[in-house]
This record gives sequence, structure tokens and C-alpha cells, in this order.
Amino acid sequence: MTDRYAVIGNPIAHSKSPEIHAQFAAQTRQDISYERILAPLDGFREAVLRFREEGGKGLNVTLPFKTQAFELATKHADRAHAARAVNTLRFDYDEIAGDNTDGAGLVNDLERNLKFPVARKRVLVVGAGGAAQGVVYPLLKAGAESLVLANRTKDKALAFVRTLFSGMRSLYQLTACGLDELAGQRFDLVVNATSSGLQAEAPQLPDALFNEGALAYDMVYGVGETPFLSYARSQGAAVSDGLGMLVEQAAESFFLWRGLRPNTASVLEQLRRA
Ligand code: ATR
Repeated sequence: MTDRYAVIGNPIAHSKSPEIHAQFAAQTRQDISYERILAPLDGFREAVLRFREEGGKGLNVTLPFKTQAFELATKHADRAHAARAVNTLRFDYDEIAGDNTDGAGLVNDLERNLKFPVARKRVLVVGAGGAAQGVVYPLLKAGAESLVLANRTKDKALAFVRTLFSGMRSLYQLTACGLDELAGQRFDLVVNATSSGLQAEAPQLPDALFNEGALAYDMVYGVGETPFLSYARSQGAAVSDGLGMLVEQAAESFFLWRGLRPNTASVLEQLRRA
């Protein structure tokens, strides 16, 4: 019997997840279907429970429902706790397991596809919304020497660090600040986790932010080179968009559901060509 999965969000029409999971399933010979579900903005919970009732096995969750998915899950992986957001649900009998594969997706794209190990790097994450929250803990776990979370609205970055890392601050070098406090600091990896690229804008960042050999990563994809990446390139940094992260987070979700790791390189190559 075919096992059903889906991605749920609003809007959802442009999601590439069905394509990606269809390729993973073909590669690994898994008998699954993967559809798109458009949930009404006030009807996420009902849509999830209906899908489970109909025999659905799991869901990917995208904007704007990742926080609601966190609340709906009855058990959480550590990385979902740290993010306070869930992008993967798995229906385990009467439990709803919530996980967040976004951070692992970023780390795997950096390390496997871009050959950029995170260990001992000085990392800057720009932004403090859901996208940023999903990647901070996995970057620290991957061995970043230090991580600065900088946001246009400084209080949001401070609040995130305070609430999520009160017990972990002694384990990790994690600080929060406003964008205007970055002058004079240098980083090996700068991740743009703001939505600025979608409005063809860049966060206001100082010059001389990048160490020799630094990488600038924009989590946005499919909109051409963002102003953030153009700025980083002009500063001498290597650059990457977030398409690899998209494929890698999908692979991590596929693993949670099916226990198999698909080959991501071929899928990423095909998406790049398209
Ligand atoms: P998401 O869940 O995708 O992260 P969000 O919660 O709306 O979305 O957060 C958007 C993030 O992008 C915020 O960190 C926002 O900064 P503020 O908290 O100051 O609003 C950031 N952002 C969006 N446009 C930006 C811009 N042009 N410059 C700098 N930061 C920007």
C-alpha cells in the first residue's frame, strides 16, 4: 500500500518539495505519494488532523505554520525544541512527532555540497525570525567556534538567545546584537536568514565583515543573486544561495520517515539545471 506524505503551507503552489521527494522515492524504491496541501490560515490544525485521519504518515510544514506545528506536536526532537519551530511531522500511532530538519539541511549543504566544515568557524547569523531560529543550534552543534546572532530589531535577537539558551550558554559561545554593532567584527561564515532577499533588499551590514576564505550563504533561493550575496561577493567572499539547504532538509525529513538516506547531489544538480 502506498504511504502518503505531503507538504502543508499557505501559499503552497510553488513548493518544490513534491518534486524532490518523488526523486528520492524513485531512487530508493519507496512506494510513497507526496502531495501539496493548502491549509487555510486559520485551519492548520484541522488540516493536519484530517490528513492523519485519512491515513497520512507524515508532513513537511512550511510558512506560516512552523510554530503551530511545534504546538501541535506531542513530542519533540531536541533541535525542534531549540528552534521552537517544526518543519517535519511524523504520525507515530497516537503521537505526533515534531522535528526540525532546516538546520541539519544547512549544515549538510555547507559540509557535503560546499565542502565548508563548520567546526572552529566564527559564524554570523543575520535575522531572528523562524528561519534564523531553526539554524542556530545545529550550527553550534556542528562545532562553530562562536556564533553571533544579529538582527535589525536587536531585542528579537536578544530574546531568542535568552529564552532558548539559558541552560546552554556556558557550553556555547553565543551572543546577540543589533546590525549596527557588527562593525569591527570579522567572520568565516555569514548566513543571511532574513527575508530581505525576497524584497530585493539586503540587511545593512558593515564593510570588512569577512575573513579570508569566508563564505556568505543566503537561505533564500530561486530569485537570482540576492543583494546580500552581491554585497558579499564585492567584499571578496565566496557565495551560495539556499537551494542546497532545501534539498538537504528534505533528505533529512525523508530519512526520519523512511529510514533511508537518498542521494542529494543528483537531485540538486537537476534543480539547478531547471
Ligand atoms: P522568517 O520566519 O522567514 O524568518 P520572520 O519571522 O518574519 O520570517 O522574520 C524575518 C526576519 O528578516 C527578521 O529577522 C527581520 O528583521 P526584524 O526583526 O528587524 O523585522 C528580517 N528582515 C526582513 N527584511 C529585512 C531587511 N530589509 N533588512 C534587515 N532585516 C530584515
